[in-house]
Amino acid sequence: MCRHQFNADVQSANMDISKGREVLPKNVKPIHYDLTLEPDLEKFGYEGTVVIELDIVEDTTSISLNTLDLNIHSTKVSSGSKLITSSPDVSYNKDTQTTTVSFNETIPAGSKATLTQTFSGTLNDNMAGFYRSSYKGDDGSTRYLATTQMEPTDARRAFPCFDEPALKSHFTITLIADKNMTCLSNMDEASEKEVDSRVSGGKKKAVTFNKTPLMSTYLLAFIVGELKMIETNSFRVPVRVFATPDRDIEHGRFSLDLGARTLDFYEKKFNSEFPLPKMDMVAIPDFSAGAMENWGLVTYRVVDLLFDEKTSGASTKQRVAEVVQHELAHQWFGNLVTMDFWDGLWLNEGFATWMSWYSCNTFYPEWKVWQGYVTDNLQSALSLDSLRSSHPIEVPVKRADEINQIFDAISYSKGSCVLRMISKYLGEETFMEGIRRYLKKHAYGNTQTGDLWAALSDASGKDVEKVMDIWTKNVGYPVVTVTEDEKENAIHVKQNRFLRTADVKPEEDKTLFPVFLGLRTKDGVDEGLTLNKRESNFKVKDLDFFKLNADHSGIYRTSYTPERLKKLGEAAKNGLLSVEDRAGMIADAGALAASGYQKTSGVLSLLQGFDTESEFVVWDELTARVGSIRAAWVFEDDKVKDALKAFQRDLVSHKAHKLGWDFKDSDGHIEQQFKSMLFSSAALSGDSKTLNAAFEMFEKFKNGDRSAIHPNLRAGVYAIVLSNGGEAEYDAILNEYRTAKTSDERNTALRAIGRAKKPELIKRTLSLPLSDEVKGQDIYLPMGGLRAHREGIEALWAWMKENWDALEKKLPPGLTMLGSVVSICTSSFTSKAQMDDIEQFFKQKSTKGFNQSLAQSFDAIRAKAGWLGRDRDDVEQWLKEKKYM
Ligand code: BES
Ligand code: ZN
Repeated sequence: MCRHQFNADVQSANMDISKGREVLPKNVKPIHYDLTLEPDLEKFGYEGTVVIELDIVEDTTSISLNTLDLNIHSTKVSSGSKLITSSPDVSYNKDTQTTTVSFNETIPAGSKATLTQTFSGTLNDNMAGFYRSSYKGDDGSTRYLATTQMEPTDARRAFPCFDEPALKSHFTITLIADKNMTCLSNMDEASEKEVDSRVSGGKKKAVTFNKTPLMSTYLLAFIVGELKMIETNSFRVPVRVFATPDRDIEHGRFSLDLGARTLDFYEKKFNSEFPLPKMDMVAIPDFSAGAMENWGLVTYRVVDLLFDEKTSGASTKQRVAEVVQHELAHQWFGNLVTMDFWDGLWLNEGFATWMSWYSCNTFYPEWKVWQGYVTDNLQSALSLDSLRSSHPIEVPVKRADEINQIFDAISYSKGSCVLRMISKYLGEETFMEGIRRYLKKHAYGNTQTGDLWAALSDASGKDVEKVMDIWTKNVGYPVVTVTEDEKENAIHVKQNRFLRTADVKPEEDKTLFPVFLGLRTKDGVDEGLTLNKRESNFKVKDLDFFKLNADHSGIYRTSYTPERLKKLGEAAKNGLLSVEDRAGMIADAGALAASGYQKTSGVLSLLQGFDTESEFVVWDELTARVGSIRAAWVFEDDKVKDALKAFQRDLVSHKAHKLGWDFKDSDGHIEQQFKSMLFSSAALSGDSKTLNAAFEMFEKFKNGDRSAIHPNLRAGVYAIVLSNGGEAEYDAILNEYRTAKTSDERNTALRAIGRAKKPELIKRTLSLPLSDEVKGQDIYLPMGGLRAHREGIEALWAWMKENWDALEKKLPPGLTMLGSVVSICTSSFTSKAQMDDIEQFFKQKSTKGFNQSLAQSFDAIRAKAGWLGRDRDDVEQWLKEKKYM
């Protein structure tokens, strides 16, 4: 077959099948888009015109581009000054979401062409493409704005385009709107003129923005709405924060200032000027993710941008800082340099995650965020990646509906763990030098993972690819089993694939990871030891004290003998271990018990030994581990469950009382979270002192004293009074959801509401997710509390079965949210029989768009069932021995 014919075949299938990816044919390349959009905020539609300049790469008789849910009214193709056709044959392939424009004349390779289309679309309410978002006006009426969410593959929903990250182009955007509206896009305004409206007949303004630099379609954004704004000139270019009129725009001040400082920090760190003329950050009332890094126009969920010091606590502040710094990191990593296809998503998300921690640590060293990293990102990564249904960091994604599913803990958390590991291995300064080289070399271009490794090798002189490739190309991670040889003064270490379900098959245990051992002894940390083989021996001068994976910068779990684990518990008390070591060691022990490497009783003893621990992060992990045991035991006998609760009470109460629950201005950021965490943990495990205090505060609060519950305690107090109270508490908290001013206050109420256990209250909770009272973006919030108790878990699943059609309609697959909801409603179960029921339900249904979440739920349930089978008696025995039963 001649080359030409082969191309024709590929074109007729509307896709290039190289690497199994469904991508557009490569016969043309977009150079510039001139896009005009006129939204109609009354009829929820819009009219558009797009003029795309194309480079003709191969002789062309058809052009395929992406469209979805658009009405194409007219199509014209011209080349130079010559009209090729104004009535081409236009066909649509639903499966690949492509429109193909075919004509009789051949446009020769090497020439240029222009494709012009007029079209109309719906300003949908699915938070994807060009969509509408609503808020309440002064008079109580519902008001709308039009905004966009393109990533990963919804630019095609907004306008016809070549919707792939590697098809970078320039864009000139024009928005037509009423004169009182604010119009925003990636670039600054170039001109404004009066025009006749295409949708309403009257006069409107047409705002044209300056031409963008070379960029990917998924980073485009346009917004039309009535918006309030604050601005700072403390950065080289203006930085602004926008919000709808129902918000207090002053709540954007924290993010505004932090944003300006962060941009300045990044451009110096990266030695690369922020290339756009302004940075706008906008709080959008309906938003599917947390935030989106559109170049120069970052959009946020309201809670992730607006922050009110008076009504929100320390953890909310840290979350806002994290989100802002994450999205701004993308302005370089992702926007300036972009992955060449979605299987490189981790480059974007892993880096932005790592960078937000790095910058947060620089801006707020007293927050000690890297300590928290070990209990946060590291555990998320190790947890998801311990399931058979996990996936490699670099995962082949072929189709649009697969792409959304990889915005998960593997891309974000494991991706950032890999970068943390290599940054520690090379040293942070060398790592950063590599990043600078990478950004410089690939600015305005697209990359693959190998390009990053090459830049890091270049900067360090080390073969980075050799040690890192294995981590990104393979699923999972090892458990390193350590045994000791006292005669030889050596340790023996062996790596095996770690699966939570504890049923690794030989063919799943073939990958040998380069494991940085990070051997800590009394002499310090030996960073040089690497286990490259299955097993090996290493000399240790003094076997009295050693620990592997110092600071837990490696991606693995360490399994010690029970005797060694006891000694490590002692070492922790004697100050020989860092905070990261202590927290990480507890996490490892907990996870290993859950998967049969150790006895759960051993972990319970270990946890018990930590009662004199002084650090927040370690306590956070301690309570998390007790929490996961209690969660796995949630369907067990009440006697055992009560005993576990008593154990938790015993563990935390003393410390909780000692720290207290008064908040002073002088309390540090960590101290605030520490008090709040222990207070809730004690009261929720039945400690009477904290329990009474919670009810006292709530009583005052209910009677109108809004200052009676400190913002740091609010979530805890709600959970406590709902778990132990009745209808009066429920009504008051629901009322708080309905009437509180800030999103954070309202979310806190909604997140807690499911804690109430009475059947009639569960019913009321379950009436919320699909009601008009809860925005689609928040659908999962009222479900959360239900997972804290068995009655709730059962009711939630029954509700999901009953409301599946409505859920599927409200959350169309392709959006990540359906997957999250499936996971929330199924993953709390613990037995084979329950799993069968779930399997049965989904058997006849399409699981497209959430098959990954479902498989992960099944694995999680399987793991818990296995754990209970192994350690049910062991735990009961221990609880009896310790007089908790
Ligand atoms: N690029 C993502 C937003 C996104 C997520 C788009 C999923 C499409 C699908 C953005 O940079 C992001 O990662 N946002 C995070 C916040 C961050 C602090 C982890 C989010 O949305 O939670
Ligand atoms: Zn991101």
